[in-house]
Amino acid sequence: MHTKTQPAVLVVAPVMESLLAALSNRYQVFHLYQQTDIPAFLSRHGAEIQAVVTRGDVGITREILEQLPQVGMIAVFGVGTDAIDLHYTREHKIKVGITAGVLTDDVADLAMGLLLAASRRVCQGDRFVREGHWENTPPPLATKVSGKRIGIFGMGNIGQAIARRAKGFDMTILYTSRQRNSSLDYQWCTDLHTLARQSDYLVIAASGSVENRGIIDASVFDVMPEHALLINIARGSLVNEQELITALQNNAIAGAALDVFENEPHVPETLRNLDNVLLQPHVASATVETRQGMSQSVLDNLDAYFNNQNIPGLIK
Ligand code: 8YV
Repeated sequence: MHTKTQPAVLVVAPVMESLLAALSNRYQVFHLYQQTDIPAFLSRHGAEIQAVVTRGDVGITREILEQLPQVGMIAVFGVGTDAIDLHYTREHKIKVGITAGVLTDDVADLAMGLLLAASRRVCQGDRFVREGHWENTPPPLATKVSGKRIGIFGMGNIGQAIARRAKGFDMTILYTSRQRNSSLDYQWCTDLHTLARQSDYLVIAASGSVENRGIIDASVFDVMPEHALLINIARGSLVNEQELITALQNNAIAGAALDVFENEPHVPETLRNLDNVLLQPHVASATVETRQGMSQSVLDNLDAYFNNQNIPGLIK
């Protein structure tokens, strides 16, 4: 039960039940996603809201923020801030806190999982056994991973965690990032196309910023080797999905393993029908341990804000 004396927090999109329960113990919680008449809800309660909880993939629109004049903090359940207008938050001195560090391992684990599964045809092998084909035909050969060249686009925390894992597979690591990281002993490429041209696996680990929108397009697929695979655990917005589908249909690249899409949860039927893609429902951070850690991080960020303390996951 919440009381009027507790700060009012607006939860924009569904999050874990246990996080909702913990929020309700501390705050007066409103659920935007449960409202049937959002304009009416905002004109009634908008001025009470002091903080917002949202997911990395959902963010919050500027139009809604404009109707929350008291809001001082957005606590993101995730690390992506691409769905939040950071010009607006800076201008209005709204703090934004992310679940920094908590999900890095899981996302890097899934990137390697997708790379291995796509290359070694794990899903096809599973279907092959289930459908009884093994009894009649030998399974087709897959592609070796160890010792190959991995190109990582975006060398932040997640990119670096992927590189450390790839090292364990004796892979040659190449990367491109906003700037060269002199502390890393990997091969730096000046631009995305140089990276794509030299990579057996092109792994997207960059942010979904406006400048990265649609950056992985036909011009990138054209320079990727025909045997190369694209792995995306970052954001669907970085990839021109239609041009990816064309590249996959024409076998311009060997395949793709995707955890994220342009218009989630909608995945184009043409993509779903292709055999050279491995599809996941945006689950890179979706383990029990990490989601619990992310929940705790949201609570810590909010508690710090309401107690005027340093917010652990504050972004600049
Ligand atoms: C989550 C994410 O899947 O961190 C992010 O930005 O997209 C993911 O970790 C998402 O925030 C929860 O739905």
